[in-house]
Amino acid sequence: MTTMTAEEKEAALARIAEEIKVCLRCELHKTRTKAVPGEGPADARIMFIGEAPGWNEDQQGRPFVGAAGKFLDELLASAGLHRGDVFITNIVKSRPPGNRDPLPDEIAACEPWLARQIEIIDPDVIVTLGRFSMAQWFPGERISKIHGQLKRVGRRLFVPMYHPAAALHQQALKTTILDDFSRLPKYLAEAEALKRSEEAADESPPHQMGMF
Ligand code: URA
Repeated sequence: MTTMTAEEKEAALARIAEEIKVCLRCELHKTRTKAVPGEGPADARIMFIGEAPGWNEDQQGRPFVGAAGKFLDELLASAGLHRGDVFITNIVKSRPPGNRDPLPDEIAACEPWLARQIEIIDPDVIVTLGRFSMAQWFPGERISKIHGQLKRVGRRLFVPMYHPAAALHQQALKTTILDDFSRLPKYLAEAEALKRSEEAADESPPHQMGMF
């Protein structure tokens, strides 16, 4: 668990963003316009992780600013959340040419950036958007089976969701995604309660043996 102050977290995230902008770890740096580190408050309680920047994101250097981003804003609002309160990033920080799927070596090259962002933000809940993001923590799982469920991996809580862009192309998924997002406030409350009970357990005096 991180013990950084809010200012230290902001500064650490800003340093990572500067490093990502000049990252040469995979071939995507040759074709990108701007890398997209992600954005949001360093003390966000919820983090959204998409797949990779598209054309609009590549132009602007910001995540989810195209059609899928507009729908993500609507989904956030439907759950009583605002973009300014959450951290949004992607598995891969540079646009794959022609919006093709990210390759395994590109995902692997980018993974340390994401790991550092998660470590610093230390969110209560991570929402994965789409199957590439889901596969980082749930390899071999099917999104059709686990979408919208609160799941624990190690000490972190995840909610795998369909990708907002999928709903743009498959009208039937829209209801499902809206329904999944509607459960986020309840999950955040559960995550907060779990965190408090674990902190209380950590602080309780150790059981002393042979002291009577
Ligand atoms: N799709 C993603 O997965 N990420 C973005 O930033 C935009 C679209």
